[in-house]
Formats: sequence, C-alpha cells, structure tokens
Amino acid sequence: MVSNEVFRRAAQLRNQINKHDYHYYVLDAPIIPDAEYDKLFRELLALEDQHPELREFHDSPTQRVGGKPLDAFPQVAHDEPMLSIRTETDISDQGAIAFDTRVRKALGLRDSDAPVEYACELKFDGLAINLRYKQGKLWMASTRGDGTVGEVVTENIRTIHQIPLVLVDCEVPVLDVRGEVYMRRDDFEKYNERQRERGLPTLVNPRNGAAGSIRQLDSKLAAQRPLSFFAYGIGKVDDGWNKPETHSAMLDALAAMSVPVCEERAVVHGAQGLVEFHRRIAAKRDQLPFDIDGVVYKVNNLAWQKELDFVSREPRWAVAHKFPAEEQLTVVRDIDIQVGRTGKLTPVAKLEPVFVGGTTVSNATLHNEDETRRKDVRVGDTVIVRRAGDVIPEVVGVVLEKRPAQVGESFDLFKRLHGKCPVCGSAIVREEGEVNWRCTGGLFCPAQRKQALLHFASRRAMDIEGLGDKLVEQLVDSGIVETPADLYDKHKLNLQTLANLERMGEKSAQNLLQAIEHSRQTTLARFIYALGIRNVGEATAKDLAQHFGSLDNLLAANEERLQQVPDVGPIVAQSIAAFFGERHNLDVIEKLRDKERGQLRWPEHAGLKVQVLPFSGKTFVLTGTLSMPREEAKERLEALGAKVSGSVSKKTDYVVAGAEAGSKLDKARELGVTVLDEQQFLTLLGSA
Ligand code: IVH
Repeated sequence: MVSNEVFRRAAQLRNQINKHDYHYYVLDAPIIPDAEYDKLFRELLALEDQHPELREFHDSPTQRVGGKPLDAFPQVAHDEPMLSIRTETDISDQGAIAFDTRVRKALGLRDSDAPVEYACELKFDGLAINLRYKQGKLWMASTRGDGTVGEVVTENIRTIHQIPLVLVDCEVPVLDVRGEVYMRRDDFEKYNERQRERGLPTLVNPRNGAAGSIRQLDSKLAAQRPLSFFAYGIGKVDDGWNKPETHSAMLDALAAMSVPVCEERAVVHGAQGLVEFHRRIAAKRDQLPFDIDGVVYKVNNLAWQKELDFVSREPRWAVAHKFPAEEQLTVVRDIDIQVGRTGKLTPVAKLEPVFVGGTTVSNATLHNEDETRRKDVRVGDTVIVRRAGDVIPEVVGVVLEKRPAQVGESFDLFKRLHGKCPVCGSAIVREEGEVNWRCTGGLFCPAQRKQALLHFASRRAMDIEGLGDKLVEQLVDSGIVETPADLYDKHKLNLQTLANLERMGEKSAQNLLQAIEHSRQTTLARFIYALGIRNVGEATAKDLAQHFGSLDNLLAANEERLQQVPDVGPIVAQSIAAFFGERHNLDVIEKLRDKERGQLRWPEHAGLKVQVLPFSGKTFVLTGTLSMPREEAKERLEALGAKVSGSVSKKTDYVVAGAEAGSKLDKARELGVTVLDEQQFLTLLGSA
C-alpha cells in the first residue's frame, strides 16, 4: 500500500520532471541545472523501486526507456481516417498557383472575392503518428498504416522525450494529436558516426531512421535512436475542447498544451502568399536542422476545410508543394582516396555530375573501407546520392539491378594504394579495432601539414599566438612553411617573405616572428604534445616527458618500453612507435633541434639534449597560496620531470606549502612527507 504522502510526492515529481523535459527537449531552454534534474529523477526512480505500482502511471517519465520486446504490434482502427496529401510535383510557382485556383473554384469564389487565407507549413520527412490523449495523458500512439488501420507503437513513442506524456491544461476525454516523428540531421549524423566507429550498419537517411525506429519491436532499441516530433493536425476530438476556428489557431492551441509545433509556419493570403512561402523556405532549407521535401499549404478556415472535404483519400483543402529531391541516381566513374586532416583516408566516389539537393554534385563520400564494401560500391555502378543540408554528399546505396556486366572489382583500399599514402607516399596503417586507414606521414604529408601546423602552434602546445587558420593556409600555400621546423628557419620565414603575403602588414609580421621566437622556450611535455602524434594528448605527453626525461630517451624507446609509462597501452605505444618510425618525422624533429637554425630551449636552456630531468620520478603536491599562479608552479615542476598530484599520500615526495595551507599540510606532517615553504621551493627550482 502506498501512503498518501509517497503517492503525492511521486505525482509531484512526475509533474516537475515532465515540465523540465518540456523545457529541455521542446523549448531547448532548461530552467534547472542537469544535476538538479538528475536528483529529482533519482528520487522518483527510488520511490518507484520501493512501490512498483507507481510505475503504472502513464505520465511517469521513468517509463521512457522502453520495455519488453513485442512479438508483433497490435492493430488499431483510426476513429478518423489518416489521409494523405496530394503532392504538387511542379516545383515552380505554378504548383502553388494551380492549388489556389482549384480551391477557389471548389469554394465557388469569384475573381472579385478576397484572397483565400492559407496556413503554410513544412512538409516533414518522417513517419506519420497519431497520439491519443485521454484526459490529457498519453494513452496510445499508432502509425498511419493504410490510413484506416494502423499499428500500436505506444512504447516506442514514449521513448521520444519531445512527446508530452501529459498535456498542459487539457482535460478533454479524447484528443488525437497528429504529426510526424522525424530525425534531426545532426542526430542522424551523430548516430551514423558512432555506428561507423564501431563498424556497425548505418541508417540510410533520417526518414528511414525515424520510420525504422518506430517499427522496431524492441522499444529499448528504439530508445537509443534520437527522434523528434512535430504536430501538424488533429484527429478525433471529444466534446470538451473549445476547438479554434482556424488551422493555425488550432496548432497554437496544441503548442500551448506543450505539444511541439514547428515555428517555421505562416498564415498567408492568396497564391502570391503561397509562392513567397515556398521561395522563402527553399532558400533556408539547408539551414533547417532537419530534412523536408517541400512545404504544405492548408486552407486555414476549418469550416471551409469541411466544405472542401476529400476525394480519393486526399483532402481538397491541402497540398504538398515539393522542392528539388535530395536523393538522385547517378553513375560512379571512379573511386578516389582523400587524405584528411589527421591522415584519415576516405574513399570518395567520383560521379557523373548530378543535380541533387539544389546543387550539382560530382563527389560523394563513401566514409570508409568497410562501408564501401558493405554497400558494395564499384566503379560503373548506378548509385543513390544524397545531399541534404550542408552535409557533404554521400553514396547511400547501389541499385544492383543496374549493375553493368563490366563492373569494377570489390573495393580494397590497401590494394588500391599499394599500401602508400596517395599524397606523400608514407606507409598506410589500419590499426586493430579501427575502421579507418591512415597515412603515417604525419608532419611530412602536405595534406596533413596545415592541420599539423595549427596543432603545433596551438595554445596548449607551442603557444604561438596569432598563428591561426588563415595564416597557416597562406604560409603553406605560398610554400614558405612546410613543416613546423620551417617556422624557426630564418631563411624561410622572415620579414621579406612575410611581406609578400596578402593582408600581412609589417606590424603583424613582426608580431608573428616575435611570437615564434617566444615559443622557443618551452617544455618537453609541450613539445611532445605539439608533435601531434596520434593518441598522444596533453596528459600522455606529460607522462612521456616525465618518464623519459629527454627526447633522446623517448626516441630510443621501443613499444615495450613505451608501455611501461603509466596509462600508455599497446595502442598508444604503437602510435608513438609508428610516428617515430617515419623518417620524415625524424627529419622534422632533427631540424627543430638543429643548433644552426636556432634550437628550441627547455627552461634550463639545455637545448633539446636534455638528459634525465632532475625531478623525474618525484611527486609534488602544491597547497596553500604561492606567489606565482598554481598553474605556473605546476608547469615548472613538470618541466623538470616532476609529477604534480592533487592529494597527499605515502608516495608523495614533497609538499609545497604556501600561505594558509590546510588539511594537505596536516596530512603531510602526519605521513612524514618533506614539506617545503615557498622560499625553499624557489631555491629548489633555481638550483635544478
Ligand atoms: S497534414 C490531410 N501536414 O505527409 C492531411 N502532413 O501525404 C494530413 N506530412 O503522412 C496530413 N508534413 O506524414 C500534414 N505539415 C504537414 C506534414 C504532413 C509531413 C506527411 C504526413 C502524411 C503525408 C501526407
């Protein structure tokens, strides 16, 4: 038996969480921090754990995770048929004009009568759904089916956080809300990206993603697909709702009940209004976060809609006016392989140019080798190309019926490239568990050079202020700089050569040279990080610097020795070995530490030939206020090989105690760890 108190608290939590879901998922404007939300959610989960009968409430947000898989979807007859819309395939203005003409004629309007008022909307590209709310609570959700009988998919629909489990201020006994379940483009890309990383099948397009997820019998799987929803109409409504007189006002009323309604809609007058809406939306189609294949015009006055009625399952009061298709057929002429910023090798289909999604497309990505093989794309094949939004065009699939007898062979990236990077000739590798082949050329490969330079100069690496995107582009394109070593080469980079660059004044040139000069003074850890070795981030670079103490020691280490560094596993070790195994990378490093060209300096001015660092293997803890910023103290210690930890333990070698040191100092004394005051600390730094 649930006590009144628990019962009320659970109801209160359900209300609060549902409200927060609306702000978060529909309005995209949360009103409480995530942590607060999590607290409420955990409290409700705990109550439901103790009293499982509380889970039976249809409005419980904890039930959005999906339940037991079904054997089949039960069927349900729609109380009001779910009609489809006539499609105007003439994508010119004429499509809109023809609709307005038909409407006026059917309504018996004369030329002298006022223009008809229309509600204009987007035509979403997903799956039509009927949401039945009873007394404002989500009761059942069904697909359109054949328009008369659909399938009950309530469990799957419940997993869509945008769909309200409870309507705001709505006690109508039965209200059927109709709309489209769709997948946003970014959600689709993210989902596919993740699948690709794991070598799993991808979704063909967002529409299939939405439709496939809802038809999924296992709602736990459906819950993992990122879906969204927009309402565009109603079905059966019981008495008790003061139904508005126009379609647009009806959507406003739904929105007020917390149902997601797309804001991109308008009330316009006459054919001219329709034409303008069509043009306006066509122009911003790419910027919308989801795919649409056209717009929808509806006679706004609901009484007139009734009068116009429908013929052969298509209402005469609505029409869909299309845009150019985002998927087209074309032929693959060749398959190229491009080198990306991090050396990633991407197969790209060279296509017979085709007009798709509003532009002419002649290249489309095939993503990676596995995907190319899974789709079995071959030279000579007819393929479906998709270009939606500003997403790069991709090959969706092959039309096998159109495969010619003389088709190319099954795709094999390594064989195609004879194991070498097409740009720089370095070896290519595909590591275990990786889906991508990569060029090992690193700093030497021109395709990777710009990106490598940017990384080298970045704030947490060599920190060369002012060496950004545009400048790197110019420096590389003009041939002044090829590798990071060239940045320090006075023969290559100087006031004269910089003066030839566009938009490069003398002052900026001076600033740049000064920033580069400044960067010579660096730490071993920063330098290792700056090299841009795959899988070697800032933390690993620090560990490597501490462990090896000098670049020479690091260069001499084999994979086995590399793995002795804390947190360096086989993958990281292999990346490092592969990087230093490339002659080109060693050349760049040699140039960087070449005295003639002006070598980089470690803090102790020992050049790159740093021997074992003085504090290598020592752990420091900083506490209290020091006269230099904590971050600087940390960096100076790390530069000398020390590890700086946040907590005192038996393994701590020194605790540096500044002013007002607290519990860490106590702990150090307790454990008998050496404590240094600031003066002693500075002396130690100075003597090192
Ligand atoms: S109204 C009587 N409005 O298009 C008209 N439908 O063929 C009932 N659709 O299955 C639908 N966007 O899933 C309407 N703004 C919109 C729509 C829309 C997309 C879909 C809907 C339906 C199909 C009609």
